[in-house]
Amino acid sequence: MSITMPTAFAAPVLPDSAPFSPEQRSWLNGFFAGLLSLDGAGVAALTPAEGASLLQGSPAAEEDDGAPWHDQTLPIAERMTLAEGKPLPRRMMAAMAQQDCGQCGYVCETYAKALADGAEKRLNLCAPGGKDTNRMLKKLAEELGDAPAATAPAVLAGAEAPAEEPRGYSRDAPAPAVFLSRRRLNAESSAKETHHIEFDLSRAGVSYEPGDAFGIYPNNPVALVKSIGRHLGIPLSEPISAEGQTRSLGDWLTHVKALSPAPDALFALLALEAADAGEKARLSRMAEGEGADGYDVLAALLAFPHLAPSPYRLIEALDPLAPRLYSISSSPRANPGRVSLTVDVVRYQVDERVRFGVASTFLGARVREGDPVRIYIQKAHAFGLPKDPATPIIMVGPGTGIAPFRAFLQDRLVTRAKGDAWLFFGHQREASDFFYREELEEFQAKGALTRLSTAWSRDAGPKTYVQDRMREQGADLADWLDRGAHVYICGDASRMAKDVETALADILVDHRGQDEASARAAIAALKASGRYQADVY
Ligand SMILES: Cc1cc2nc3c(=O)[nH]c(=O)nc-3n(C[C@H](O)[C@H](O)[C@H](O)COP(=O)(O)OP(=O)(O)OC[C@H]3O[C@@H](n4cnc5c(N)ncnc54)[C@H](O)[C@@H]3O)c2cc1C
Ligand SMILES: NC(=O)c1ccc[n+]([C@@H]2O[C@H](COP(=O)([O-])OP(=O)(O)OC[C@H]3O[C@@H](n4cnc5c(N)ncnc54)[C@H](OP(=O)(O)O)[C@@H]3O)[C@@H](O)[C@H]2O)c1
Repeated sequence: MSITMPTAFAAPVLPDSAPFSPEQRSWLNGFFAGLLSLDGAGVAALTPAEGASLLQGSPAAEEDDGAPWHDQTLPIAERMTLAEGKPLPRRMMAAMAQQDCGQCGYVCETYAKALADGAEKRLNLCAPGGKDTNRMLKKLAEELGDAPAATAPAVLAGAEAPAEEPRGYSRDAPAPAVFLSRRRLNAESSAKETHHIEFDLSRAGVSYEPGDAFGIYPNNPVALVKSIGRHLGIPLSEPISAEGQTRSLGDWLTHVKALSPAPDALFALLALEAADAGEKARLSRMAEGEGADGYDVLAALLAFPHLAPSPYRLIEALDPLAPRLYSISSSPRANPGRVSLTVDVVRYQVDERVRFGVASTFLGARVREGDPVRIYIQKAHAFGLPKDPATPIIMVGPGTGIAPFRAFLQDRLVTRAKGDAWLFFGHQREASDFFYREELEEFQAKGALTRLSTAWSRDAGPKTYVQDRMREQGADLADWLDRGAHVYICGDASRMAKDVETALADILVDHRGQDEASARAAIAALKASGRYQADVY
């Protein structure tokens, strides 16, 4: 059998004797292969944003340290060990969740740099890192003379937007959009609840592109707010002055403060109130994270009902209610003045009480048609359609990961893009969880979608995931890559994204005769040239 090596997977550029670790060598080989990309087939030049993001996210950007902690599957303790002895900005970066998800308004590396430079004072912006990241950053920030604030101030976003910042393009300067509708995408019988959500943007003054994400400021569930008010024995209409503002208790709890999880500062406040030494010690340990899992604000208050912090102290101890991001699932060219999202509703039970994901249940149940919502467009960090519409695209998006690909396909249909498009979609059950089935069939019929491969994980038979379908059709996938296809992955960051990447490496080993190291270098090359892009959360 003769094997032709596509030029993008050319032999490693650096000799094995080069003074780099295997990870550094693999990354650099990929980088140079991508840069040289000898024939450049199907490789679109990076946009300035893509280039900047690539450099931000790449290990070589700050220092030649390989950033081995930049892996979202590693636990924080391991990441910190890998960053030991590095300069403060690198250790701060290692404390982040490594998803480069954009929720903080930066990527991990630039957020860390901004904190270390003092340009950013808020230590609690890394949503996927949660309290662990916040605690580690607090500790690291002690090395700075003028330590940044442990928690962000309770800015009612928009009220204090810097003048130069255009409204609607950052979490600090949201714009108003109008909620239009929700439609459940699963059948009644499904174990999941996922909604197609639409907003009217005609008065928001923002524009977006397929690949961008949509930030929304949610409200907390009314019943939860009422329960906290009842527990405190204070009417929700009671004015409370805190953080330099006066608002009703209901307003603070509904619109301004996060009610889950219970922050360290709340346990510290309860520890101050406690008279019993044992209880004080236990609460102090909880403020350090010990035994505090599963507590939201109500659960923490109910667990210590005899401790009654004053309402203004309570408000000051709570974290601000942060916005949530959703991948946009529409193309503006197919839906002028509108945007749509694909939102999985988060609900789970702890002890007797059902807990509600704040933003997903806001979108899935509480917000009503015609309600104004504070929103912003989060421009994509290197996640977008290729410049050349003739370039083939391979999209891998199980579950809500399908969202940006619906936007891509709508866009390619409107713009009559000539390139082939292959979608791998998977979910639990074909009968109940085949999102946008009719639309996908229409995209196929009209030529915008060339090939659709589906994987149902909970139908009869063995559990099948998108990466199983990729492996089954590995020879064709390798051919598409030879033709210069761009690969996109969207959805779960914790396991799926890495498993899909492994499947792709296996395909290069099986169908292009590469060894594991050169397959990984080939994928690094695809990443470096903008041909392998991920939007994972
Ligand atoms: C760039 C980006 C794009 C995204 N795109 C999408 C998208 O297209 N669609 C989509 O649905 N989501 C998307 N997300 C995720 C989304 O932003 C929210 O994180 C998600 O909707 C949950 O938010 P929430 O406010 O409803 O839940 P939260 O109030 O934030 O609650 C979620 C938290 O609850 C806890 N929790 C959840 N389940 C359990 C459980 N069973 N047991 C114990 N604790 C639990 C976990 O701590 C979890 O972090 C995206 C995220 C990013 C960063
Ligand atoms: N507890 C939570 O906080 C919670 C709950 C649900 C979703 N999420 C997150 O919310 C996001 C949206 O979830 P979603 O509704 O889009 O769907 P999802 O829960 O990510 O599931 C979509 C499909 O992916 C499958 N899957 C699971 N592990 C996989 C893997 N390693 N590789 C490939 N496919 C895999 C699932 O199968 P099986 O489920 O049958 O294994 C299912 O068929 C994801 O980030 C998810 O992690 C969080």
